Amino acid sequence: MDFEIVNGEIQSLETECLVIAVEADGNLSPAAKAVDSASSGYISEIINQGDISGKTAQTLLLHKVPGVTTKRVLLVGFGKEEDRNNRNLRKAVTAVMGIVKGTGVSSVTFALDCKLSDDADQYRQLRHVVEWAGAELYVYDETKSKKADPLKLEQIALVVNDGDAEIAETALLDGTAIVNGMSIARDLGNLPGNICTPTYLAEQALELDDEFESLTATIVDEDEMAELGMHCLLSVGNGSEQPSKLIVMEYKGGEEGDKPHVLVGKGITFDTGGISLKPGAGMDEMKYDMCGAASVFGAMTALCEMELPINVVGIVAAAENMPSGHATKPGDIVTTMSGQTVEILNTDAEGRLVLCDALTYAGKFEPASVVDIATLTGACIIALGHHATGVLSNNDDLAQELMQAGNQAADKAWQLPLWDEFQEQLDSNFADIANIGGRPGGTITAACFLSRFTKEYRWAHLDIAGVAWHSGGKNKGATGRCVPLLTQYLLNQSADEE
Ligand code: BES
Ligand code: MN
Ligand code: ZN
Repeated sequence: MDFEIVNGEIQSLETECLVIAVEADGNLSPAAKAVDSASSGYISEIINQGDISGKTAQTLLLHKVPGVTTKRVLLVGFGKEEDRNNRNLRKAVTAVMGIVKGTGVSSVTFALDCKLSDDADQYRQLRHVVEWAGAELYVYDETKSKKADPLKLEQIALVVNDGDAEIAETALLDGTAIVNGMSIARDLGNLPGNICTPTYLAEQALELDDEFESLTATIVDEDEMAELGMHCLLSVGNGSEQPSKLIVMEYKGGEEGDKPHVLVGKGITFDTGGISLKPGAGMDEMKYDMCGAASVFGAMTALCEMELPINVVGIVAAAENMPSGHATKPGDIVTTMSGQTVEILNTDAEGRLVLCDALTYAGKFEPASVVDIATLTGACIIALGHHATGVLSNNDDLAQELMQAGNQAADKAWQLPLWDEFQEQLDSNFADIANIGGRPGGTITAACFLSRFTKEYRWAHLDIAGVAWHSGGKNKGATGRCVPLLTQYLLNQSADEE
């Protein structure tokens, strides 16, 4: 999609559809007032008639409004000023895009000049409009024989005052990078397990390497992982015909000596549970068990597009969790790259098994911070539902930074405690640590397991089990979370550098 910044007189803008805001009680925003006076009160007459009251996300499409250049004026409700927030802004943008897609126009211009949200930052308000308009254009048709009709919409323009043009250009660039990152994450998530295998993910990394000068991808194969001592990661793929891969993407935008921020994604391309087999109902959704990895791919792509002046390493631990005669069995004991031994009491708690070796590997980079992202526990859905990513960290400042990035990016996260009390649930009679800690506090004990491998650096874990995809029915599909949070986190890091 081509996004553009425009300015000029509202009534004479060249666009197929002009979007203007109606506030609560039918009050007109400045741009709507301009259209109203150009049309000798046409808009206020319609409002007085009661066709639109200005409630959040209400829409009314008008044709042939007199006195203006555009053929279509789309009124959209923004509600009361005290109700303006990111959630309602997104609802309004989504409603607009629904109408726009329905009409088949080739260009649309947003002239939204009232208060849009409670985010004090104008750059982010504009960026969110770009992100959310862009996200509504996402279509998945990779595995359909009949491809979606090509989009008629070619251009989305935002009206911005002359003085704000520079901020707006940055917002547009960053917003576009984030939408692209989300689309990549959604595509990878939505692809089925028979296509999106560990090898497929590795190929995606090599393609990014080809595309961007600033990024270098290295694939660590099973033999090399065995040499490195990653027997815990390898144990997860034992039952699968698909070879496991450790994918390493190094982005160099900073100075040579700048310590990198490391992102580590869980890339289980299908999670059957292994010998601790999952129940059949809804098991297809375990193709989404690589959404952590997908969000790393999305954030790395956004980073390359934004050319941020920092160093970042993206690591993906990719494996398929299958039952077979070669599969790991409950009670098996493996040695991790760190030297610690693990008793695998449940082969369905496999995410932590691939992540622990990837986290040890991350230590090689002497990282400034390490953030892992994983669809790790069903318990996180019980704790935080489908709205918030779970954050657990060995450093409260880092947890705060991530939650702040989540707020700024409207991709929320919430911290759970990582207290020592929970660590004892992982005691094993036969190994240094068990891979499960029982049902109580399942998200926390999973993070406790990971914490045994992250002592050397600032680390946080993001559990995205509840937010990475929409389940069941018509709505089923990957969300692209938490690409916005991760990208915002990296943007904040690069702002700190300057
Ligand atoms: N990938 C799942 C977690 C999951 C389940 C995410 C459902 C989203 C929806 C993970 O590998 C898993 O199976 N976890 C187990 C851990 C348990 C065996 C300790 C779980 O959550 O039940
Ligand atoms: Mn599992
Ligand atoms: Zn899993």
